[in-house]
Amino acid sequence: MRDDVGATWSRTQAADIERRADNVAPVIDPPETDPAEDVHVWDTWLLRTRRGAVASVDGYRVALSLSAPASLLPGKRHDTAEIRYFYSPDGREWHDGGPVFDGGALGQRQWAGSALYDDGDVYVYYTAAGDGDADDLTYTQRPAVAAGGRLAATGDGLALEGAWRHEVLFEPDGRWYETKAQSEGMTYTFRDPWFFEDPATGRAHLLFEANTPVPAAEGCDAEARTFNGSVGVAVSPSGEPTEWELRPPLVGAGCVNQELERPHVVVRDGRYYLFVSSHAHTFAPELSGYDGLYGFVADSLRGEYRPLNGSGLVVTNPATAPFQAYSWMAFPHREEVLVQSFFNYFDFDGESLDEIAGLSADEQLRRFGGTLAPTVRLAVDGDRTRVVGTLDGWRIPLPGEPLPEPDDRQPGAAVLADRPVGVGDGGYRRSSRTGGERE
Ligand code: FRU
Repeated sequence: MRDDVGATWSRTQAADIERRADNVAPVIDPPETDPAEDVHVWDTWLLRTRRGAVASVDGYRVALSLSAPASLLPGKRHDTAEIRYFYSPDGREWHDGGPVFDGGALGQRQWAGSALYDDGDVYVYYTAAGDGDADDLTYTQRPAVAAGGRLAATGDGLALEGAWRHEVLFEPDGRWYETKAQSEGMTYTFRDPWFFEDPATGRAHLLFEANTPVPAAEGCDAEARTFNGSVGVAVSPSGEPTEWELRPPLVGAGCVNQELERPHVVVRDGRYYLFVSSHAHTFAPELSGYDGLYGFVADSLRGEYRPLNGSGLVVTNPATAPFQAYSWMAFPHREEVLVQSFFNYFDFDGESLDEIAGLSADEQLRRFGGTLAPTVRLAVDGDRTRVVGTLDGWRIPLPGEPLPEPDDRQPGAAVLADRPVGVGDGGYRRSSRTGGERE
């Protein structure tokens, strides 16, 4: 094992991944098709303060999402992704504010990130995906920031405006973080910058998804070694949101998994819960996992991290709809942790998302949600987590807002018994571009 990687997710730990009553989210009913829906959204993040609280600006909360025209084949959305913003007075009904950038963003397209509300200034961290000056689509990825945003009340809403200054924050160093040229893996990652101020030290950090070279001595074969996902980190010695220095990875998944996506941290009872999303098809040979939210816990930000629940699996989709949601992001609310995600391929139970491309265009479109999923509720206790239900749609409750009593039946139990479980006693349908409501 490399001694400069904070902790490793081992093959033995990952071999214990299994669907259980306490890690399966309930089935989400298919949305009603809404012909007015002209945009698909997926990876979503909330505007948050330096301290990590969900920002409230003139009584509104703000969410940013990757988006693409709904007419596009869902698999092609990554090739044109642009960031839009949405705002809500109550965390239930969301209004589309439109694209955040009016040209000027770096890369050929923009992938996931985070957003900081700092004393009235908005910083949007994102992934500059592809080389802006290349003719063909390319897959380089560079964490970037757009500084200079402001939020202004418009009478009946909120406008995110800015004389945005875009800047690439850092490049992979080739030692801790693999460059595109070094990569021999099934896919390459250096993306998804996520701002986090450590409450213990007041120090600003940027977490990101990366690949970290695995030495031959690691104890798995050459093919498994090409699976080398990691959670990277940079620090801002000055505290400036635009100045970062790379540090060694917090967690490495060498020989285990290629993609530890959208890393982020929730602090609870002095413990650091580090979450990532990952796919069934990115596990190394002879390991199997699911599309799911995985997590690790440690006593300080740098770790050393241990996988939650022994294996690392925190939330997955039911066996009957294994790809219904993805790109989970957790945030604290009262004594719970809430997890928001997007509604992915709800009507597909193949082995892996790779098989989607084999379906007809119509079928690919029909089976894709392209909106947001009901918020999942998680009970967290030490090294263990438990799914305790969902809210009635994609909900971001107001600070301190009480939630209904959690459903102690543990919704996953019925799913495992092969009985489909709805969201509460009602269905879920798309009511606005980022919301859903019960019928
Ligand atoms: C996860 C993800 C992110 C990336 C985005 C691109 O859903 O793979 O890591 O930024 O999708 O669309």
